[in-house]
Order: sequence, then structure tokens, then C-alpha cells
Amino acid sequence: MNKKHIKAFVTAVFILPLVFAAFIGTAAEKVEADAQDAAALYKKNTCFACHKADASKSFDPEKTDEHHINAILKGVKGEKPPYMPAYETKGIDEATAAALVAHMRELRAAAGE
Ligand code: HEC
Repeated sequence: MNKKHIKAFVTAVFILPLVFAAFIGTAAEKVEADAQDAAALYKKNTCFACHKADASKSFDPEKTDEHHINAILKGVKGEKPPYMPAYETKGIDEATAAALVAHMRELRAAAGE
């Protein structure tokens, strides 16, 4: 083996797994970041103002994710104001809405319900 081959060998054996490990690590961080984003969005979009910090108001955990995601995207016109605003037009997509619903379920579970 000449020097060039040794270098290639070292790269393949030692560097590539490192790159791979870093990549996996990033994917795990992304999931973590999504959960943090949902918490931040819950505050930023003042969801807590109407639903309370523990999501105990106007949120029925018995209903399906589909129902909740639709409510966030399209809004809900209730009997009297304040109504649930539609967030689809405010840059919240389906995946983000799903993360928000998961976050609200967690808040509710943490509150012991
Ligand atoms: C201006 C007050 C207000 C704000 C702000 C608000 N909501 Fe709502 N939301 C409501 C009301 C009121 C309802 C219930 C409507 C109904 O069923 O009559 C509701 C319903 C919902 C539902 C469906 C709950 C169920 O059990 O049917 C979800 C999910 C939801 N909101 C999530 C959110 C999220 C996430 C945010 C922030 C991005 C948010 N809301 C911001 C007032 C608000």
C-alpha cells in the first residue's frame, strides 16, 4: 500500500462512520427541535391566551388528531367569540398543526387529565 491508499483506507474505516453518526445525531435532534418548536409556537401564536397554559380550555383530548388539526388549519366558528382563528393562512402547515396537537395533549396529560 502506498500513502494514498492508506489515506483512503483510513478515511473509509474511521471517518465515514463518524460522518454517519453525526447524521443520525442530527435526525434525533430534529425530533427534539420539533417538540420545542411546538412549545414555542403555542406561546408565539398566543394559543395559551384562549386555551390556557395547560390546554385545559376549549380543547377536548377525546377528539381525534384529525379533528384538532383541521380546527387549527381552518379555524372554528363557535356560538360566540372568541372564535378559533384559522392558522393555515398564518404559515402553519399540517405537520406543524400535528406537532401543536401533540403538544396540547402533553400539556393536558401533564396537568393530570
Ligand atoms: C382567540 C382565541 C383562540 C386562539 C388565539 C386560539 N384558539 Fe384554538 N380554539 C378557540 C376556541 C374558542 C375553540 C373552540 C371552538 C368551538 O368548538 O366552539 C378552539 C378550538 C381549538 C381546537 C379544537 C379543540 C376541540 O376540542 O375541538 C384546537 C386543536 C385548537 N383550538 C388549537 C389551537 C392552537 C394550536 C392555537 C394556536 C396556534 C389556538 N388554538 C389559538 C380559541 C382560540
